[in-house]
Amino acid sequence: MRTYGRLTLAVEKAGVRPQRGLTPETCRHRFPIFEQRVYINSCSQGALSDAVRAAYEQYLADWDEYGAPWEYWVERGEAARAAFAGLVNADPDEIAVTTSLSAGVSALASGLRYARRSKVVLTDWEFPTIGQIWHAQEARGARVTHVSAEPDGTIPLEHFDRAIDDDTLLVSITHVCYRNGAMVDVAAVVELAHARGALVLLDAFQTAGSLPLDVRALGVDFLGAGVLKYLLGSAGLGFFYCRRDLVERVWPTQTGWFADENIFAMDHTDYSPAHTAARFQSGTPPVPAIYAGIAGIELMEEIGIAATREHVNALNAHLLDGLDELGATVVTPRAAEHRGALICVRSTDAKELVTTLDRDGLVTSERDNNLRISAHCYNSLEDVDAVLAALQRHRRLLV
Ligand SMILES: Cc1ncc(COP(=O)(O)O)c(C=O)c1O
Repeated sequence: MRTYGRLTLAVEKAGVRPQRGLTPETCRHRFPIFEQRVYINSCSQGALSDAVRAAYEQYLADWDEYGAPWEYWVERGEAARAAFAGLVNADPDEIAVTTSLSAGVSALASGLRYARRSKVVLTDWEFPTIGQIWHAQEARGARVTHVSAEPDGTIPLEHFDRAIDDDTLLVSITHVCYRNGAMVDVAAVVELAHARGALVLLDAFQTAGSLPLDVRALGVDFLGAGVLKYLLGSAGLGFFYCRRDLVERVWPTQTGWFADENIFAMDHTDYSPAHTAARFQSGTPPVPAIYAGIAGIELMEEIGIAATREHVNALNAHLLDGLDELGATVVTPRAAEHRGALICVRSTDAKELVTTLDRDGLVTSERDNNLRISAHCYNSLEDVDAVLAALQRHRRLLV
């Protein structure tokens, strides 16, 4: 049993034994919701596992038993940093542990100077928070340009080619669009941006945990994500990657004492941000969400992220065939390499469809009048068949 001083590792102490050899085919029993419902909505929130529940219970037990074990809690934050680093093939000193994706991106935006280069290029696929953060920087001199998508739901590279120029400071892209499930060709955008001297930020919220991520292979300069979707954690924990040689070129003015070079110095007389990516952090870390996030990531890694990508691709191939048979309008690209885990289907009234499916025991979500169906490691072919059967019953709500 691993120990940290008098404290023991959450899942072991709470009696949920890490189970070696878990696979997408054998992990479902770890997620109690499937006893009641078909949960196929991981683009919004991952299903709660026994391990994450135990981690939350452990947090309360530790608080109760030890009062204020801050040294241990700060160490748990470092464990989360190491887990995030491993997840994206970065070094821990390139990772900030944040309370949301927005917190990390905002710290970055506050620390850039929009002077010699002032243009920020983003796509029409961005999550609202990304657009809002960059537009907020217009007050500090940023010029924001949007790269538009084609009516067929793709963003051709030529659109980036036209937008990225010698005045471009940063290109902000989302890996997989939360509204239509389409995947950006990250490597191609990075190549174009870097050739013109621009930096690239990747919003990987819709891919972290659903497919292997490697910041070195992708070539991105910054990456943000959170744990509550495909990483099986909960709200309140995110992370932000900054390539090491860029860390000290950014001077976040949105900050806090957990961004300091020495948080224990308690020095209120100056601002000395960490020499690592911890400079993108802010105030007191989200300790309960850190317990849960570590448990979620460990469980996801045990199940296997690459194996999950393959499993979900097979489920989605079956789903797409079934949707074609129904004559449904799929707005997600067909080729597996051009989409994430999420499949989106046009509806006449997506809110009504989600409510109707919910009454049938199926949990999905909607955006932009699209039904969102997002399978993860714990879903099965039977789940997909249940979705297809329900959509056939409610065919009138599909376009
Ligand atoms: C693609 C994407 N980016 C960002 C977010 C929001 O991130 P946060 O609330 O952690 O800032 C979401 C959440 O749904 C998302 O899907």
